Amino acid sequence: MHISRRDVLKMSVTGAAVVALPLARTASASSTSRLAQSLYPTRFEAAFIRPPVARPVRTDATTDYYSLTMRPGTTEIAPGLSTQIWGFNGVAPGPTIVQYRDRPAVVRQINKLPPRHPQLGYLPWTSTHLHGSPTLPQYDGYASDITLPGQFKDYHYPNTLPATTLWYHDHGVMHTGPNDYMGLVAQYQIHDALELALPIPHGRYDVPLIISDVLLAADGSLLWEDNDESGLFGDIILVNGRPWPAMKVERRKYRFRMLNASVSRSYRWQLDSGEPFHVIGTDSGLMPSPQQVQQFRHGVAERYEVVIDFAKYPVGRRVIMHNLSNDNNIDFATTRDVMAFDVVAEATSQADNAIPDSLNPGNPTMALTAADATTHRRFEFVRDGGEWTINGTTWADVVASNFTFTIANPSPGSVELWEFKNDSGGWFHPVHVHLIDFKVISRNGGPPMPHELGPKDAVYVGEGETVQVLIRFKPDERGRYMMHCHNLVHEDHDMMTQFAVGDLGPDPIHTDPARPLPATRL
Ligand code: C2O
Ligand code: CU
Ligand code: CU
Repeated sequence: MHISRRDVLKMSVTGAAVVALPLARTASASSTSRLAQSLYPTRFEAAFIRPPVARPVRTDATTDYYSLTMRPGTTEIAPGLSTQIWGFNGVAPGPTIVQYRDRPAVVRQINKLPPRHPQLGYLPWTSTHLHGSPTLPQYDGYASDITLPGQFKDYHYPNTLPATTLWYHDHGVMHTGPNDYMGLVAQYQIHDALELALPIPHGRYDVPLIISDVLLAADGSLLWEDNDESGLFGDIILVNGRPWPAMKVERRKYRFRMLNASVSRSYRWQLDSGEPFHVIGTDSGLMPSPQQVQQFRHGVAERYEVVIDFAKYPVGRRVIMHNLSNDNNIDFATTRDVMAFDVVAEATSQADNAIPDSLNPGNPTMALTAADATTHRRFEFVRDGGEWTINGTTWADVVASNFTFTIANPSPGSVELWEFKNDSGGWFHPVHVHLIDFKVISRNGGPPMPHELGPKDAVYVGEGETVQVLIRFKPDERGRYMMHCHNLVHEDHDMMTQFAVGDLGPDPIHTDPARPLPATRL
């Protein structure tokens, strides 16, 4: 077995890593939660909840200011047991930030995490990333731009994107997986005039679904097992932090902003009624036109906005959302179920209860054609011994170069065709590119899947798959940004690199670093 120097370092910090190594072959047999049968959560018993909505601490003529504290909190996943989480403001998932397009925000992130991770023992530095946002490099959650416990950092967000579902999550170098698993994930929604004018569900009929999977120890604490650094696959499915919740719905259409915030697991959604999902939005905004699908594949970090029409069912009907899964997940009998929708009442409002044929036909990313691309690049995602690599390189190479190594150097204003390739049959990679959004133009030489026909920033590169995307780098954007696999175990074991638009741009680490909290604030 290949053991890297970093593994040895980790093993000296925590004996648990030594025990975890031989799990590779027996993962599915040994990796369920260790809960006593009587404490195992019952499916569809927990009430569905929505994450809280963040309130600005202050607003001025141009900007909204938020202040969030990353700190421990507790939740109840197994009945009667308390589970420690780490959350923005102590809740997991954290508060949803809701902003209007072109209204900038400054989000202060205060790190009040404890000095050690409860199981893994590491020092929890953080770097908060607003996933999907074209943020300046020094505010993008650059993995090595860390904030230590006792420090804070103000992140500036332009909010220039069209209406979309972004998310913010920890991106601290080497610990993104465990930090996000502890709960440092949340949605960030942008509204705009076009979206608000569409008769699609809004307000209380516009519902975030943040889906993740966990393993619990016998005492209810979160258990981290990464199966020889290949992935974490829990047997308990959470939606907005609750195990297999049941949501009460009226007989009308609802819009769900589905975010896969799992560490590694991918899903394939299906309704037990056989009714379709109407996909209206993808990672970076509304699709040109809705796509009706019976089932769809959903990798880590991807967002899909879907409409489900409950008018088709009588009051009293329960509709279950299933997960049919995909190759190379570790599945359990329990991971086929995700949540239930209980149709409990007639619609109390018929407003915004439609799915127009045209949503956002003018999105410039979706107008790109292969002929626009002046440069073609190929990126191969390969497991090489113990390391996960991109074109043979890892984040360790970026660090070793003092953050000057770049895998690509596109020009501002140019259009490029990027090809992501996964030759293996043994794993899949949800590939994410910071800064930009892209148009998926081909999958294995054929067309993209219907649910991918919208602007995106993450794409599923499955077993033996080659995916091509088109990217326009905006004329006024420059600097270093990350690209990585969003299976957080792959990312932390180094399937991450960077590209630079134009020159290296501002130093992402030293331009506006984290600062210590004033003593009075502690
Ligand atoms: Cu969701 Cu590099 O991040
Ligand atoms: Cu990102
Ligand atoms: Cu991967």
